[in-house]
Amino acid sequence: MGKKVVIVTGASSGIGKELARGLAEKFKPDELWAVARNRERLESLKDILPVCVRAVPADLTAEAGLLALKTLLEEERPSVKVLVNASGFGIFERFDRIPEGDNLGMVDLNCRALTAVTQMAFPYLHAGSRVVNIASMAAFEPVPYGGVYAATKAYVLSFSRALAREWKSLGIKVLAVCPYWTKTAFFDRSNQNGVIRKFEVMYEPSFIAKKTLAAMDKRGDYVVPGAYSKFTHALTKLLPHSLVMKEFMRRQKLK
Ligand SMILES: NC(=O)c1ccc[n+]([C@@H]2O[C@H](COP(=O)([O-])OP(=O)(O)OC[C@H]3O[C@@H](n4cnc5c(N)ncnc54)[C@H](OP(=O)(O)O)[C@@H]3O)[C@@H](O)[C@H]2O)c1
Repeated sequence: MGKKVVIVTGASSGIGKELARGLAEKFKPDELWAVARNRERLESLKDILPVCVRAVPADLTAEAGLLALKTLLEEERPSVKVLVNASGFGIFERFDRIPEGDNLGMVDLNCRALTAVTQMAFPYLHAGSRVVNIASMAAFEPVPYGGVYAATKAYVLSFSRALAREWKSLGIKVLAVCPYWTKTAFFDRSNQNGVIRKFEVMYEPSFIAKKTLAAMDKRGDYVVPGAYSKFTHALTKLLPHSLVMKEFMRRQKLK
Protein backbone atom coordinates (compact mmCIF):
# COMPACT_ATOMS: atom_id res chain seq x y z
CA MET A 1 0.00 0.00 0.00
CA GLY A 2 1.22 3.53 -0.81
CA LYS A 3 1.77 6.36 1.61
CA LYS A 4 -1.11 7.39 3.86
CA VAL A 5 -2.63 10.56 2.46
CA VAL A 6 -5.39 13.01 3.40
CA ILE A 7 -6.78 15.03 0.48
CA VAL A 8 -8.61 18.30 1.11
CA THR A 9 -10.05 20.36 -1.74
CA GLY A 10 -10.68 23.98 -0.80
CA ALA A 11 -7.79 23.75 1.67
CA SER A 12 -6.56 27.27 0.92
CA SER A 13 -9.25 28.97 2.99
CA GLY A 14 -12.16 28.78 5.43
CA ILE A 15 -13.72 25.45 6.35
CA GLY A 16 -11.36 23.41 4.15
CA LYS A 17 -8.32 25.01 5.74
CA GLU A 18 -9.60 24.35 9.27
CA LEU A 19 -10.42 20.76 8.34
CA ALA A 20 -6.92 20.33 6.91
CA ARG A 21 -5.54 21.52 10.25
CA GLY A 22 -7.76 19.17 12.28
CA LEU A 23 -7.22 16.15 10.02
CA ALA A 24 -3.47 16.63 10.03
CA GLU A 25 -3.50 16.44 13.82
CA LYS A 26 -6.02 13.63 14.08
CA PHE A 27 -4.81 11.27 11.34
CA LYS A 28 -1.13 12.22 11.12
CA PRO A 29 -0.94 11.29 7.42
CA ASP A 30 2.38 10.88 5.60
CA GLU A 31 1.18 13.70 3.35
CA LEU A 32 -1.73 16.10 3.23
CA TRP A 33 -2.64 17.04 -0.31
CA ALA A 34 -4.05 20.56 -0.32
CA VAL A 35 -6.05 21.35 -3.44
CA ALA A 36 -7.37 24.76 -4.59
CA ARG A 37 -6.42 27.43 -7.14
CA ASN A 38 -4.26 29.71 -5.01
CA ARG A 39 -0.80 28.15 -4.91
CA GLU A 40 0.61 30.69 -2.46
CA ARG A 41 -2.08 30.05 0.14
CA LEU A 42 -1.67 26.29 -0.28
CA GLU A 43 2.10 26.57 0.14
CA SER A 44 1.61 28.62 3.30
CA LEU A 45 -0.06 25.59 4.91
CA LYS A 46 3.43 24.09 5.11
CA ASP A 47 4.21 26.62 7.86
CA ILE A 48 1.19 25.84 9.99
CA LEU A 49 0.41 22.13 9.61
CA PRO A 50 2.37 19.53 11.57
CA VAL A 51 2.60 17.17 8.57
CA CYS A 52 4.13 17.13 5.12
CA VAL A 53 1.91 19.26 2.87
CA ARG A 54 1.77 18.81 -0.89
CA ALA A 55 0.25 21.84 -2.58
CA VAL A 56 -1.85 20.81 -5.57
CA PRO A 57 -2.87 24.00 -7.37
CA ALA A 58 -5.85 23.18 -9.55
CA ASP A 59 -8.98 24.88 -10.84
CA LEU A 60 -11.43 22.04 -10.36
CA THR A 61 -13.92 23.59 -12.80
CA ALA A 62 -11.38 23.05 -15.57
CA GLU A 63 -10.60 19.70 -17.18
CA ALA A 64 -6.88 20.45 -16.76
CA GLY A 65 -7.37 20.93 -13.00
CA LEU A 66 -9.22 17.65 -12.60
CA LEU A 67 -6.62 15.90 -14.76
CA ALA A 68 -3.77 17.28 -12.64
CA LEU A 69 -5.20 15.65 -9.51
CA LYS A 70 -6.08 12.42 -11.31
CA THR A 71 -2.58 12.16 -12.76
CA LEU A 72 -1.02 12.73 -9.35
CA LEU A 73 -3.17 9.96 -7.88
CA GLU A 74 -2.21 7.58 -10.69
CA GLU A 75 1.49 8.36 -10.28
CA GLU A 76 1.60 8.16 -6.47
CA ARG A 77 -1.06 5.48 -5.90
CA PRO A 78 -1.50 6.57 -2.27
CA SER A 79 -3.67 5.05 0.38
CA VAL A 80 -6.29 7.78 0.83
CA LYS A 81 -7.31 7.84 4.47
CA VAL A 82 -9.63 10.86 4.16
CA LEU A 83 -10.98 12.79 1.18
CA VAL A 84 -12.62 16.13 1.93
CA ASN A 85 -14.51 17.92 -0.82
CA ALA A 86 -14.73 21.49 0.50
CA SER A 87 -14.10 23.52 -2.69
CA GLY A 88 -17.28 25.40 -3.44
CA PHE A 89 -18.86 28.77 -3.90
CA GLY A 90 -22.28 30.39 -3.93
CA ILE A 91 -23.87 33.58 -5.24
CA PHE A 92 -26.92 35.16 -3.60
CA GLU A 93 -28.86 37.23 -6.12
CA ARG A 94 -31.91 36.86 -8.32
CA PHE A 95 -31.15 34.07 -10.83
CA ASP A 96 -31.35 36.24 -13.95
CA ARG A 97 -28.97 38.82 -12.45
CA ILE A 98 -26.23 36.25 -11.86
CA PRO A 99 -23.88 35.92 -14.84
CA GLU A 100 -24.38 32.64 -16.69
CA GLY A 101 -20.75 31.72 -16.01
CA ASP A 102 -21.35 31.94 -12.26
CA ASN A 103 -24.61 29.98 -12.34
CA LEU A 104 -22.93 27.23 -14.34
CA GLY A 105 -19.74 27.61 -12.28
CA MET A 106 -21.63 26.70 -9.09
CA VAL A 107 -22.89 23.52 -10.75
CA ASP A 108 -19.41 22.78 -12.13
CA LEU A 109 -17.55 23.19 -8.85
CA ASN A 110 -20.10 22.19 -6.21
CA CYS A 111 -21.52 19.20 -8.09
CA ARG A 112 -19.43 18.16 -11.10
CA ALA A 113 -15.98 18.58 -9.56
CA LEU A 114 -17.04 16.99 -6.26
CA THR A 115 -18.37 13.98 -8.18
CA ALA A 116 -15.27 13.72 -10.36
CA VAL A 117 -12.85 13.99 -7.43
CA THR A 118 -14.77 11.35 -5.46
CA GLN A 119 -14.72 9.00 -8.45
CA MET A 120 -11.02 9.49 -9.19
CA ALA A 121 -10.16 8.89 -5.52
CA PHE A 122 -12.14 5.65 -5.28
CA PRO A 123 -9.35 3.27 -6.40
CA TYR A 124 -7.22 4.60 -3.54
CA LEU A 125 -9.88 4.36 -0.81
CA HIS A 126 -10.11 1.24 1.31
CA ALA A 127 -11.98 -0.13 4.34
CA GLY A 128 -11.60 2.52 7.04
CA SER A 129 -11.31 5.45 4.60
CA ARG A 130 -13.61 8.44 4.96
CA VAL A 131 -15.14 10.85 2.48
CA VAL A 132 -16.40 14.19 3.80
CA ASN A 133 -18.46 16.38 1.49
CA ILE A 134 -19.28 19.94 2.49
CA ALA A 135 -22.92 20.60 1.68
CA SER A 136 -24.85 23.37 3.47
CA MET A 137 -27.97 24.12 5.47
CA ALA A 138 -29.24 25.32 2.09
CA ALA A 139 -29.38 21.66 1.08
CA PHE A 140 -32.58 21.13 3.06
CA GLU A 141 -34.83 23.70 1.37
CA PRO A 142 -35.17 25.75 -1.79
CA VAL A 143 -33.56 29.16 -1.17
CA PRO A 144 -34.95 32.10 -3.18
CA TYR A 145 -32.10 34.37 -4.37
CA GLY A 146 -29.82 31.39 -3.82
CA GLY A 147 -31.66 28.91 -6.00
CA VAL A 148 -28.75 27.44 -7.92
CA TYR A 149 -26.48 27.35 -4.87
CA ALA A 150 -29.09 25.60 -2.71
CA ALA A 151 -29.84 23.12 -5.50
CA THR A 152 -26.15 22.25 -5.82
CA LYS A 153 -25.98 21.61 -2.09
CA ALA A 154 -29.13 19.47 -2.20
CA TYR A 155 -27.22 17.43 -4.79
CA VAL A 156 -24.21 17.13 -2.47
CA LEU A 157 -26.38 15.98 0.43
CA SER A 158 -28.43 13.50 -1.59
CA PHE A 159 -25.38 12.08 -3.40
CA SER A 160 -23.37 11.74 -0.19
CA ARG A 161 -26.12 9.98 1.74
CA ALA A 162 -26.73 7.49 -1.07
CA LEU A 163 -22.98 6.91 -1.39
CA ALA A 164 -22.70 6.32 2.36
CA ARG A 165 -25.24 3.52 1.99
CA GLU A 166 -23.58 2.06 -1.11
CA TRP A 167 -20.07 2.07 0.33
CA LYS A 168 -21.06 0.83 3.78
CA SER A 169 -20.32 -2.74 2.70
CA LEU A 170 -16.84 -1.62 1.60
CA GLY A 171 -16.14 -0.09 5.01
CA ILE A 172 -15.84 3.43 3.51
CA LYS A 173 -17.69 6.05 5.56
CA VAL A 174 -19.22 9.03 3.78
CA LEU A 175 -20.35 12.11 5.66
CA ALA A 176 -22.12 15.24 4.39
CA VAL A 177 -21.62 18.39 6.45
CA CYS A 178 -24.34 21.02 6.45
CA PRO A 179 -23.01 24.26 7.95
CA TYR A 180 -25.09 27.37 8.51
CA TRP A 181 -23.55 30.83 7.91
CA THR A 182 -19.84 30.54 8.63
CA LYS A 183 -17.30 33.36 8.85
CA THR A 184 -15.14 32.73 5.75
CA ALA A 185 -14.10 34.33 2.47
CA PHE A 186 -17.24 32.70 1.01
CA PHE A 187 -19.06 36.01 1.50
CA ASP A 188 -16.48 38.03 -0.45
CA ARG A 189 -18.00 36.49 -3.55
CA SER A 190 -21.45 35.28 -2.52
CA ASN A 191 -23.03 38.43 -1.14
CA GLN A 192 -21.44 41.22 -3.16
CA ASN A 193 -24.83 42.87 -3.77
CA GLY A 194 -25.84 42.66 -0.10
CA VAL A 195 -28.86 40.45 -0.83
CA ILE A 196 -28.46 38.63 2.47
CA ARG A 197 -28.95 41.26 5.18
CA LYS A 198 -29.67 39.22 8.26
CA PHE A 199 -27.36 36.56 9.63
CA GLU A 200 -29.02 34.93 12.63
CA VAL A 201 -25.77 33.18 13.49
CA MET A 202 -22.23 33.26 12.18
CA TYR A 203 -20.15 30.25 13.10
CA GLU A 204 -16.37 30.10 13.10
CA PRO A 205 -14.86 27.72 10.52
CA SER A 206 -12.85 26.11 13.34
CA PHE A 207 -16.16 25.24 15.05
CA ILE A 208 -17.48 23.61 11.86
CA ALA A 209 -14.24 21.66 11.54
CA LYS A 210 -14.38 20.51 15.17
CA LYS A 211 -17.96 19.28 14.83
CA THR A 212 -17.11 17.57 11.53
CA LEU A 213 -14.19 15.71 13.08
CA ALA A 214 -16.42 14.57 15.93
CA ALA A 215 -19.16 13.45 13.53
CA MET A 216 -16.66 11.37 11.55
CA ASP A 217 -16.41 9.04 14.54
CA LYS A 218 -20.16 8.74 15.04
CA ARG A 219 -22.97 7.04 13.21
CA GLY A 220 -24.95 9.04 10.70
CA ASP A 221 -24.39 10.16 7.14
CA TYR A 222 -24.80 13.89 7.68
CA VAL A 223 -24.14 16.44 10.38
CA VAL A 224 -25.65 19.85 11.07
CA PRO A 225 -23.10 21.64 13.26
CA GLY A 226 -24.40 23.94 16.00
CA ALA A 227 -27.52 24.27 18.13
CA TYR A 228 -29.13 27.09 16.10
CA SER A 229 -28.53 25.15 12.89
CA LYS A 230 -30.12 22.04 14.39
CA PHE A 231 -33.16 24.09 15.44
CA THR A 232 -33.53 25.56 11.93
CA HIS A 233 -33.02 22.15 10.37
CA ALA A 234 -35.86 20.77 12.51
CA LEU A 235 -38.13 23.59 11.34
CA THR A 236 -37.33 22.94 7.67
CA LYS A 237 -38.37 19.32 8.23
CA LEU A 238 -41.58 20.22 10.04
CA LEU A 239 -42.87 23.20 8.06
CA PRO A 240 -43.98 23.34 4.42
CA HIS A 241 -41.17 24.69 2.26
CA SER A 242 -43.49 27.40 0.90
CA LEU A 243 -43.68 28.78 4.44
CA VAL A 244 -39.94 28.45 5.03
CA MET A 245 -39.25 30.38 1.81
CA LYS A 246 -41.81 33.05 2.71
CA GLU A 247 -40.18 33.55 6.10
CA PHE A 248 -36.72 33.71 4.52
CA MET A 249 -37.92 36.42 2.09
CA ARG A 250 -39.51 38.38 4.94
CA ARG A 251 -36.39 38.28 7.12
CA GLN A 252 -34.08 39.24 4.26
CA LYS A 253 -36.51 41.98 3.11
CA LEU A 254 -36.72 40.45 -0.38
CA LYS A 255 -39.66 40.76 -2.76
N1 LIG B 1 -19.29 30.09 4.64
C1 LIG B 1 -20.53 29.65 4.73
O1 LIG B 1 -21.43 30.35 5.27
C2 LIG B 1 -20.87 28.28 4.23
C3 LIG B 1 -22.05 27.70 4.68
C4 LIG B 1 -22.40 26.44 4.22
C5 LIG B 1 -21.57 25.76 3.36
N2 LIG B 1 -20.42 26.34 2.91
C6 LIG B 1 -19.58 25.57 1.97
O2 LIG B 1 -18.33 25.33 2.59
C7 LIG B 1 -17.36 25.07 1.58
C8 LIG B 1 -16.12 25.87 1.90
O3 LIG B 1 -16.44 27.25 1.78
P1 LIG B 1 -15.90 28.34 2.81
O4 LIG B 1 -17.06 28.91 3.52
O5 LIG B 1 -14.78 27.80 3.58
O6 LIG B 1 -15.44 29.47 1.79
P2 LIG B 1 -14.01 29.90 1.28
O7 LIG B 1 -13.18 30.34 2.42
O8 LIG B 1 -14.28 30.85 0.16
O9 LIG B 1 -13.39 28.54 0.69
C9 LIG B 1 -13.71 28.05 -0.57
C10 LIG B 1 -12.59 27.16 -1.05
O10 LIG B 1 -12.90 26.68 -2.36
C11 LIG B 1 -11.76 26.87 -3.20
N3 LIG B 1 -12.18 27.05 -4.58
C12 LIG B 1 -12.97 28.03 -5.07
N4 LIG B 1 -13.08 27.90 -6.41
C13 LIG B 1 -12.33 26.81 -6.75
C14 LIG B 1 -12.03 26.17 -7.97
N5 LIG B 1 -12.52 26.63 -9.15
N6 LIG B 1 -11.22 25.08 -7.96
C15 LIG B 1 -10.72 24.62 -6.80
N7 LIG B 1 -10.97 25.17 -5.60
C16 LIG B 1 -11.76 26.26 -5.59
C17 LIG B 1 -11.12 28.15 -2.64
O11 LIG B 1 -9.75 28.23 -2.96
P3 LIG B 1 -9.13 29.07 -4.19
O12 LIG B 1 -9.81 30.39 -4.25
O13 LIG B 1 -7.68 29.13 -3.82
O14 LIG B 1 -9.36 28.23 -5.39
C18 LIG B 1 -11.27 27.92 -1.15
O15 LIG B 1 -10.22 27.12 -0.67
C19 LIG B 1 -18.01 25.43 0.25
O16 LIG B 1 -18.42 24.25 -0.40
C20 LIG B 1 -19.23 26.24 0.67
O17 LIG B 1 -20.27 26.15 -0.28
C21 LIG B 1 -20.05 27.58 3.34
